[in-house]
Amino acid sequence: MTPEQITLVQSSFERLGPDLPAVTARFYQELFQRDPALRPLFTTDMAEQRVKFAQKLTEIVRAMPGSANCSPIPAPSAPVTPVTGCGPRTTRPSATPSSPR
Ligand code: HEM
Repeated sequence: MTPEQITLVQSSFERLGPDLPAVTARFYQELFQRDPALRPLFTTDMAEQRVKFAQKLTEIVRAMPGSANCSPIPAPSAPVTPVTGCGPRTTRPSATPSSPR
C-alpha cells in the first residue's frame, strides 16, 4: 500500500467514530448472508464477538505504518498469520505459486 492509501484508510476509519459498532454489526450480517456456512463457526456470543472484532480492527488500522498512533511494529517478513481463532488461512494476493510458504 502507498502512504497515501494508508492515510486514506486511517482517516476514513477514524471518521467512523461512534458508527463503528453499527459497521461491525453490518460486517457480520454481510458475512453470514454471503456464506451461511460460516455462522456455526462462531460459538462466541455475537455481542462479545462484535466488540472483539471492533477492538482488533482498530488496533490493526492504528498500527499501520505511518500512523500517528502507531507504536512501531516491524513490518512482517513472513506471511501474516491470521488473528487467533480466525478461519482458514488465506493466500496473500502477492504470493506466487513459487513463493516459499
Ligand atoms: C478484518 C477482518 C477480521 C478481523 C479484524 C477479525 C477479528 C477476529 C477476532 C478479534 C476474533 C476473536 C479471537 C479471540 O477470541 O481471541 C475473531 C474470531 C473469529 N473469526 Fe475473525 N476477524 C476478521 C475476519 C474474519 C473472517 C472474514 C472470517 C470468516 C471467513 C472470520 C472468522 C472467525 C472465526 C470463525 C472466529 C472464531 C469465533 C468464535 O470463537 O466464536 N474472521 N476474529
